Amino acid sequence: MNKNSICAEVIKQKLKTEYIGKDFYFFEKTTSTFDEAEKISKKNGTVILAKAQTNGRGRLGRQWESNKGGIYFSVILKPEFSGDNLHIITPLCAVAIERAISKYTPCKIKWPNDIVSDSGKKLCGILSKLQTDKNGDCYINVGIGINANNENFDKSLKYASSIKLVSGSEINENELLCSCLFELEKCCNFKNTDIIMKEYKEKCLTLKSRVKIISIKHNKTTTGLCMDITPEGALVVKKDDGETICVNSGEVSVRGIYGEDYV
Ligand code: BTN
Repeated sequence: MNKNSICAEVIKQKLKTEYIGKDFYFFEKTTSTFDEAEKISKKNGTVILAKAQTNGRGRLGRQWESNKGGIYFSVILKPEFSGDNLHIITPLCAVAIERAISKYTPCKIKWPNDIVSDSGKKLCGILSKLQTDKNGDCYINVGIGINANNENFDKSLKYASSIKLVSGSEINENELLCSCLFELEKCCNFKNTDIIMKEYKEKCLTLKSRVKIISIKHNKTTTGLCMDITPEGALVVKKDDGETICVNSGEVSVRGIYGEDYV
């Protein structure tokens, strides 16, 4: 057994969190951690981890390639609910995961939820879903896929890479996961949201960049300059025709002006 590979026992020993990961489910292979979440009792901080997924899901209805070497997990969060919690949770998680990955290789956040390497390769994606359990209680399932030690990606994924490929060394998946869970607990307590959102903006390469916004629903493309990110995590864009618009992450795919993407 490779000492760098995911091992549930090692994770339990190393984990320094108070509540995230105290309830921990581990699968060698599953369809998706989103599917497993449906079947369990959902306590705040429950973690569902898989070494591989056969039907991993990404944003905007895309598939998430989930081969060996990656870290695929869901964290169940049950914050005091306000409508804003779901929008804000993704940027808070992005900051947490950026902090953890940057211990291995320099990286940045691409709005809304990607962690990309200095060379623009996608290392991680985050997808948060607001769900209701059978008692009618709401919870958020934050699904996180990290390309840790993956070595092969489908040819169609032009901008996908892994931490191992960009840094040149194999990384310890257990240490990285523990660090992610530790940072998630610090960032997702909703006590210092303003400070974390400031950090998000500092680390977000989309801010002050020219962007092409592709609305999947309306099959429409707009170009402009990203002026700001609202406290709720929406993108404020000054379009080339002078109009300023606000876009939410559920609606659009954002690319650099030359059309490059990181998926
Ligand atoms: C994205 O499109 O960038 C988001 C990708 C999210 C992938 C993770 S892997 C764990 C969880 N289970 C899934 O099926 N998807 C998310």
